[in-house]
Amino acid sequence: MDVGVIGAGYVGLVTAVGLASLGHRVSVGERDPERLEQLQSGRSPIFEDGLESLLVEHSATGALSFYGDNNDVLKRAGIVVIALPTPQGTDGQADTTFITSALEAMAPHMEPGTVVVLKSTVPIGTNARMTALIGDHASGVTVVSNPEFLREGRAIHDFLHPDRIVIGGSHTDSVELVAKMYADIDAPIVVTSPEAAELIKYASNAYLATRVSFANEIANLGDAMGLDVHDVLEAVGLDSRIGSHFLRPGPGYGGSCFPKDTAALVSIADNAGYDLTLVKAAMEVNARQPDRVISKLNEHLGDLADKKIAVWGIAFKADTDDVRESPAVRVISQLMTLGADVTAFDPHASGTGLDIEPEIAETALGAATNADALVIATEWADFADADLEMVRVAMAGNVIVDARNMLDPKVARSTGFHYVGMGR
Ligand code: UGA
Repeated sequence: MDVGVIGAGYVGLVTAVGLASLGHRVSVGERDPERLEQLQSGRSPIFEDGLESLLVEHSATGALSFYGDNNDVLKRAGIVVIALPTPQGTDGQADTTFITSALEAMAPHMEPGTVVVLKSTVPIGTNARMTALIGDHASGVTVVSNPEFLREGRAIHDFLHPDRIVIGGSHTDSVELVAKMYADIDAPIVVTSPEAAELIKYASNAYLATRVSFANEIANLGDAMGLDVHDVLEAVGLDSRIGSHFLRPGPGYGGSCFPKDTAALVSIADNAGYDLTLVKAAMEVNARQPDRVISKLNEHLGDLADKKIAVWGIAFKADTDDVRESPAVRVISQLMTLGADVTAFDPHASGTGLDIEPEIAETALGAATNADALVIATEWADFADADLEMVRVAMAGNVIVDARNMLDPKVARSTGFHYVGMGR
């Protein structure tokens, strides 16, 4: 099939490469000239496992091509997937301005029969609004909602092996066409209304975020009672009705999705006259979680002014260089505000995005050198394998706050560390 993708950001690029891997001819519209040039020369503007090699492979065969003008995409494709950013707006809800302006510009050029697929996370009712907007300029165009559930760091895998494909639409032919686009993927397809499809995305992210906050609450309770909850959460997760995913305590959830989508769902509920108490509580727990990392340092070092603190991890989670809403960055920022001398290290993220950057070390050991305390803020697998003997020798102090529960407390303590985990 000839498919178009508008927006070569995280979701759009992974979708485009994934669709090309399924055998479709994919044309991508990207309006940022620098990004476009990068993509046309086979370089991925984002760090994502497997993305760049597939980009090169499918560009070489002509299955994947990039254009600066969205109308060049329209000329080549009967299905156009919209993957434009929907940042948090002033009212807490996702701002659909990018989508609205792109569709306003494209609509007069749309042929009857064109199917517009909304992949971006959008407020409930967006499909209906976009259908009306396009209807003012073109006839016979339908809009189908098809939210994405990709995880950063695992996005290509998630695209090709999703747990489900959600297709929300009011026209059987368009829904069937979108289903056909995914025919080679082995996953259940949920066909539903556009509004339900829009809500499924928010409900899924809000539930996962709530689970993380739940795990953090149990860990905080463990801390309050002097109990190690590691085994507790593991045993809870073994209940097949519960499952073990998203029960790892930490410094809180971050990234470009959970914080934004939980806030959006609360705002959606407010507008509908319903108070979404549970999700609000999950957000509140999350907002406080980085403070707990700071208190753990305070407990062992007292005032943090002029203390030298090493922070391992800047990205919001492992296997990505994304620092948006990263809890690690929130910890670093708070430490710097308190006057601590922070040196951070991350295997892929090169900076925090803060106005004043902390010192960034080239290696984990370099960051730890002469530090009074070490904070593990992102769950990079390498941190679990660190040579603790060497770290202990390099550091001036002996405090480790393992905000991701990566290390074995027994091993850390026997190496001479004062080990503090989350609920351990
Ligand atoms: C999330 C969802 O998992 C995807 O399904 C969804 O498509 C995506 O948002 C989106 O809306 O685009 P992602 O933001 O890549 O994906 O990150 P997750 O892997 O879900 O992790 C989110 C945060 O929760 C991270 O900060 C992570 O460290 C934290 N987390 C996760 C924990 O603290 N504990 C856990 O047990 C799991």
